[in-house]
Amino acid sequence: MSEVDVDGADVESQVAAVVAALRAPASATTAEVEARVEAALGALGIAAPRPVDGGRLSSAALAPASHGTPREGDEGDEHEGDEGDEHHDDGAGDEHDDDGDDDDEEDPRELFWWLAKMAPPTHRRAREPAAPVDADLVARLEGMLAERPEPDEGHAQMAIDAASTLRRAQAVIDEVGVDAPIVAVGDDDGVTLALALLGAKDLFAVDVDPAVLGWLDEQARALGARFEGARADVFEDAPPEGIRGRCVAAVTDPVRNGEECLAFLDYAKACLVEGPAARIFWADHPDWNLELAEVLASLDARGLRLVRELPLLHAYPVSAAWVPDVEAKARALAARGVALRPTTLGALVEHVRGWTNLYVLARR
Ligand SMILES: C[S@@+](CC[C@H](N)C(=O)[O-])C[C@H]1O[C@@H](n2cnc3c(N)ncnc32)[C@H](O)[C@@H]1O
Repeated sequence: MSEVDVDGADVESQVAAVVAALRAPASATTAEVEARVEAALGALGIAAPRPVDGGRLSSAALAPASHGTPREGDEGDEHEGDEGDEHHDDGAGDEHDDDGDDDDEEDPRELFWWLAKMAPPTHRRAREPAAPVDADLVARLEGMLAERPEPDEGHAQMAIDAASTLRRAQAVIDEVGVDAPIVAVGDDDGVTLALALLGAKDLFAVDVDPAVLGWLDEQARALGARFEGARADVFEDAPPEGIRGRCVAAVTDPVRNGEECLAFLDYAKACLVEGPAARIFWADHPDWNLELAEVLASLDARGLRLVRELPLLHAYPVSAAWVPDVEAKARALAARGVALRPTTLGALVEHVRGWTNLYVLARR
């Protein structure tokens, strides 16, 4: 598949070559980047991160802080699985982080696995960019996003960039039009605001976080859009009267594991009108939600079907804040047998972006 011989090189040189390709995308093919990533991951001693919490990469693997894992005591904790499970024996090199370097108690190979897996999509999108988005709209949405409340790690909030939010909104409008009632099930990305900017007229959002709803409400009003927000926990609540069964589209970016993802999808479905026009727009990626295949396989039983998949539509800027101490991470990796210079790990963090696809679902 690859034109370069990637076998035999150590992790350090594989990753250095991946970083070089990310710095100068024209210098390599994405297939070469993929081959180097797989060769580097082959040296990890684990095929994939442990599917803790029922499929999600364990929390600190995807910092900032505990992305994806509600804080102790937060509502929704009962859906989080047993925290104790995070550190179970994975059967591969199990002396746990006892070097005192890494205070997050996570297997550092998981972060490395995820960064490496996101390198080929990052490279692909550098060579084949997604559809361009109107720069004026991006600037306007960025202005609104600047007012967004601080991300609440307790609610798994982590945002895509403004262009990605507009791409998601455009995909929704392309499918259902601007007159359709549309609900965002969880909306820290501000999809409803992007929809309003693109001319959508009948907008709803539900979110467990009142701060997100307050922000959306204020911004949507300033845009003059019709917007209604409702606080709801998809794990516990049914959609309120005004939303249940009346939306033509539901847009959601669920927590990334099988069980919780299905709760968001079930809630989204409960918001939809009957009939063939109704659509769910679900953002996810198989290298992030490790149970995505199971979710897809269970759609049929839920009365849903996959209509199309829009690959790599959304980008997450990976900031240095995700890996604040690369030296400590590199030491922790070395303790797990993965020899990587801190500068190489830091360069990977700097150049990789996270990606998700958009899955479009309809009633079966
Ligand atoms: C789930 S987060 C994005 C999660 C991200 N895909 C991940 O895996 O971490 C998207 C939105 O859903 C909201 N949210 C989180 N948990 C929720 C719940 N139980 N019910 C309703 N909304 C929720 C968040 O506040 C945020 O605005």
